[in-house]
Amino acid sequence: MVAEIMTEYPTYYHLLADLHRRKKPRTYVEIGVHEGHSLGLVGADTRVVGIDPEPKITTELPRSVTIVANTSDAYFASPEGAAPFGDDPIDLAFIDGMHHVEFALRDFINIERLSSPDSTILVHDCVPIDEETASRERSTVIWSGDIWKLIPFLRQHRPDLAITVHEVEPTGLAEITNLDPSSTVLADRYDELVDELIAMRFEDRPHAS
Ligand SMILES: C[S@@+](CC[C@H](N)C(=O)[O-])C[C@H]1O[C@@H](n2cnc3c(N)ncnc32)[C@H](O)[C@@H]1O
Repeated sequence: MVAEIMTEYPTYYHLLADLHRRKKPRTYVEIGVHEGHSLGLVGADTRVVGIDPEPKITTELPRSVTIVANTSDAYFASPEGAAPFGDDPIDLAFIDGMHHVEFALRDFINIERLSSPDSTILVHDCVPIDEETASRERSTVIWSGDIWKLIPFLRQHRPDLAITVHEVEPTGLAEITNLDPSSTVLADRYDELVDELIAMRFEDRPHAS
């Protein structure tokens, strides 16, 4: 599926707020909550799980929010993480945790498994600013890490997904739909695919000049 670049929202917070308003998800999972700024955009009727090993919530959150102080890998391996909302799927998810692409890939695999074909997975940091802020070693305040690799990778290995990249400040956000919870394409070849992902170079990214 061909993706498009959209620029209609100034920042990812504006886009997230609009997605919550339009989609009215029954359930929402956020990986990487930090102070709760993005988590605070959820609707009052949405059941929410926010996962972060070091949550530092400073934002007022609705009572429907559960914070899990753990890594996303440990959460999804736990009995709670196997069914975050009982029999209900994850309607909307936002991946904004550890900024190494293999973590984002595992988050995507774990969330898609628990989603429905009508669900949406959002991935932060897909439009890198420059090589320094997009490297695997953090040396800058704004740091998107190598998450950008996930989008060209998914387009290659999961052409069945519909991916829209929003060029919102500061580092873009991808909206992924047409999910297939039964797909094992990524999980079956995980070790081999991670090697391929990590080997991708900044100068080889799509639209690189
Ligand atoms: C960029 S901040 C999240 C910002 C927040 N989503 C927002 O927009 O307001 C990234 C967060 O990911 C968390 N994190 C790091 N490793 C993680 C992991 N393995 N699983 C889940 N969260 C992780 C960090 O503790 C940090 O709070």
